[in-house]
Amino acid sequence: MAQTLDILFIGDVVADAGMKALRQYLPDLKDRYKPDGIIINGENITGGKGLTETEAKELFGMGANVITTGNHIWENWKARPLLASNKFVLRPHNYPRENPGSGIALATLPNGAQIGVVQVQGRTYMQAIDCPFKTADEVLERLEKETNMIIVDFHADATGEKIAMGWHLDGRVSAVLGTHTHVQTADARVLPQGTAYISDVGMTGAFDSVLGMKTDIALKRFILQTAHKYEAATDDLHISGACVRIDVLRGNALAIESFMYPSLSSRASSEI
Ligand SMILES: [Fe+2]
Ligand SMILES: [Fe+2]
Repeated sequence: MAQTLDILFIGDVVADAGMKALRQYLPDLKDRYKPDGIIINGENITGGKGLTETEAKELFGMGANVITTGNHIWENWKARPLLASNKFVLRPHNYPRENPGSGIALATLPNGAQIGVVQVQGRTYMQAIDCPFKTADEVLERLEKETNMIIVDFHADATGEKIAMGWHLDGRVSAVLGTHTHVQTADARVLPQGTAYISDVGMTGAFDSVLGMKTDIALKRFILQTAHKYEAATDDLHISGACVRIDVLRGNALAIESFMYPSLSSRASSEI
């Protein structure tokens, strides 16, 4: 088996635009990174909230080995049977155990390598669920017996809580990758004990939007301070994510590279 393993992690796929972005650009990213495994966060696919069996099937067809989700998975009842029946579709593990699904997967990749994928969710500005730090400790105790290559999707809002989790798990997992805020952070690094870290990998979908939703509706909600139903945006498609290189023998990360594909333009169109 190869000495290193490259895992492609794709951030929150939002609505039809997110699926379209994957159909259009994932082949280019596969060419660029030649990943051994793919993990996709799919909490926002069905109109912005949740994931159906058909959508999950398409993601697995595109090469996803594991799909993670997040707080929005519970807002779509259709996602619950999927969580209950497919062990490669995860939800944050620290929700009450009576909810369907789990936040732990052991996946065998096409090259035969086994990776562990764990999802936990933060509590700062989010639901008051069980402690994500202690939950991660409990889960790792079990999972470490199976594999030394473990990727954690930390679905959280506050950057401080995310960075704290990075330090908490440094040297114990291959990567702690943040999801949920939909805005990629510029802090991808390998921590001193060998854990790849980024506060948020960002979103996949329409960037002519506010976090994937139509701008005019988001503006009404902020300015008028009343309820206006969100609609998913459709234009300016990008994939956000990160690729992590893992040392197979030791399970530590050798590198992490965040990406936005295609890149966002930092110049006015008249200047290009
Ligand atoms: Fe999200
Ligand atoms: Fe979320």
